[in-house]
Amino acid sequence: MYNSTPTEKNPDTVCPMETESIKKHEKSSAFKSALAVKAALTERILSELMDNQTEIPPHLKEAMEYMILDGGKRIRGALAMWACEAVSGKLNRDAEIVAAAVEMVHTYSLIHDDLPAMDDDDMRRGKPSCHKKFDEATAILAGDGLLTLAFELLSIEIENSDTAVRMIRTLSEAAGPSGMIAGQVADMHGPHVNGSRANLEYIHMNKTAEMFAASAAMGAIAGHADSRQLSAMIEYGMKIGMGFQIADDLLDVSGSSDQLGKTAGKDAEQGKLTYPALVGEEKSREIFEKLTCEAVCALQIFNSNAGPLRQLAMELLNRTK
Ligand code: IPE
Ligand code: IPE
Ligand code: MG
Ligand code: MG
Ligand code: MG
Repeated sequence: MYNSTPTEKNPDTVCPMETESIKKHEKSSAFKSALAVKAALTERILSELMDNQTEIPPHLKEAMEYMILDGGKRIRGALAMWACEAVSGKLNRDAEIVAAAVEMVHTYSLIHDDLPAMDDDDMRRGKPSCHKKFDEATAILAGDGLLTLAFELLSIEIENSDTAVRMIRTLSEAAGPSGMIAGQVADMHGPHVNGSRANLEYIHMNKTAEMFAASAAMGAIAGHADSRQLSAMIEYGMKIGMGFQIADDLLDVSGSSDQLGKTAGKDAEQGKLTYPALVGEEKSREIFEKLTCEAVCALQIFNSNAGPLRQLAMELLNRTK
């Protein structure tokens, strides 16, 4: 969608940051609390929006709420809200709606990703995955429900209709058949362990980074970003999104199922094309650190209102689930 490969250097961005300083970053409890606040807010908005849905058949609603209201780190929601704050200095209702919408689309993607026809995972967010708790048909339909509802809500709840259309376009391009779905197709059917670095970048950029970039972009649009701010936010989102999926691949190798809340070791078992499988864990980490550096540099046009986004990039280096 955004026409740039993740390792490509933006000529406008002179990155003064050294990966060494990134490596020295230590976990911050202030950041942990700030993320918890945004996660709770995202949860509250989701809960409000679901409560207003009175015409969803009860069994379907139960399955949708089972996945959307309980769990998840809410990184994409927080990212959208922080992008709005970075641009405008404050949070607004549009950014809250964006946070809920991106979490709905993300959660649908997880429900479908776990299906037997896809990654076949029985566990998600520390509990039985949707098709295990309910059944496959209900899981497919709960995913469809969340995906569609996200766009319905953007069309209804975003105050200005031109803004709503821009957001809907951004999210549908990122999540659609030239974005996340293209990445998922390549992940499922592409060349597996013997694939190339280009194949791998294509998969990660599409299946994961596009949604990060869209979350940042939509948050920025909610904050009335100009085109320079929007481009910077998209670049930042792509870089942290690529890094996020590298971390996910690394955690699949080194984490436990208890820690991750999903089955560990599945990528190797299913012969997936991942960073650790292709370039090894050490090199994967190096690429992840370089992407983090570039993500922070992409934010250099912003003032201290972008502090949480800078922190987020660095904190993701140390995530354990
Ligand atoms: C998992 O995303 C899927 C990937 C793109 C790696 P998250 O790790 O953000 O999942 P939740 O929302 O916290 O459960
Ligand atoms: C999932 O990637 C990406 C999407 C859901 C779009 P993974 O298959 O690696 O995610 P997990 O490990 O199951 O969370
Ligand atoms: Mg998958
Ligand atoms: Mg999976
Ligand atoms: Mg994974």
